[in-house]
Amino acid sequence: MDTPSIPNELIEALRTARHVAVLTGAGVSAESGIPTFRDAMTGLWARYSPEELATPEAFRRNPRLVWEWYASRRQMVTTAQPNPGHFALAALEALVPQFTLITQNVDGLHRRAGSADPIELHGNLMRARCSVEGTVYTSWTEGETVPPLCPVCGALLRPDIVWFGETLPPEALARANEAAKSCDLFLSIGTSGVVEPAASLPRIAYNRGASLALINLDVTTSTGPRSYYLKARSGVVLPALVSAAFPKAG
Ligand code: OAD
Repeated sequence: MDTPSIPNELIEALRTARHVAVLTGAGVSAESGIPTFRDAMTGLWARYSPEELATPEAFRRNPRLVWEWYASRRQMVTTAQPNPGHFALAALEALVPQFTLITQNVDGLHRRAGSADPIELHGNLMRARCSVEGTVYTSWTEGETVPPLCPVCGALLRPDIVWFGETLPPEALARANEAAKSCDLFLSIGTSGVVEPAASLPRIAYNRGASLALINLDVTTSTGPRSYYLKARSGVVLPALVSAAFPKAG
C-alpha cells in the first residue's frame, strides 16, 4: 500500500500543537506481527473469537482456556519488537509541549519503544492479578495448575486485563478524558473505534475544537473541517508525519 499524501494542514496542526493526545489500538502493533482483534484468529485459536475469550463469563466457564489464550499472546509479545510507528510516537513526545499517549493495547510495546507514561486503558498482558482479592503480580510461576494460584489466598490468577463488560481503571479513564478535552490535536491510530469508552475519545476532542486525524486501514473520507482521514499503515505514515512536522528533529 502506498503512503497517502499527508495534508499540509495536518502537518501544520502537529507542528503548532500545544497538546497532542494520541489514542492507539491493535493496528499500531500489527506491523510488529501481533494480530489485531478483528483479524481472524489462526491455528489453535481459529475456532474462537476474542469476544468469546475476553469476558469474565468465559473465565468462569473455562479459566484454563482463557489463561492459555493470554499465555499465547504473551509469548507472541515477548518475541515481538516495537515497530517504526511506536518509535515515531515515542520521538513525538519530546517534540511537542504536552503529549498524552492513551492505548487500548495490552502488549507494552509503547513503553518498550521509549514512551514514558502511556495510559493503558485495558491493562497489561505482563501482569496477572488474583481473581478474588485483586493482588497484582508481575511475575508468577507457570506450573501444573493452570491458571496458577494466588500465592496469598490460593484463588485463581487471571490476566490483569479489562474484559468486555468490566469497568476501566477509573484513574486511567479520567486522565484519558482530561487529555481529550484539553488537547488541540487528537490522533486516533490503528483502532476500529467500536469499543467504548475509548471509542468516544476522538469525538470528545473534536467537539471541544481539537483537530482530529484518524489513521487506520478502514477509514474512508473526511467528514468535516479540522479532520483528516489517512488510510495507511501506522509504521509508515507516523514516521513520515513526525518528520514532515519536525524536519530538523531527525
Ligand atoms: P481492532 O482489531 O478492532 O482494530 C484494528 C484497527 O487497526 C482496524 O481499524 C484496522 O484497519 C487497523 N489497522 C490494522 N493494521 C494497521 C496498520 N498497520 N496501521 C494502521 N492501522 C491498522 O483493534 P482495537 O480497535 O484496538 O479490548 O480493538 C479495541 C478493543 O477491542 C481492544 O483493546 C480489545 C478488543 O476486543 C479488550 O480486550 C477489552
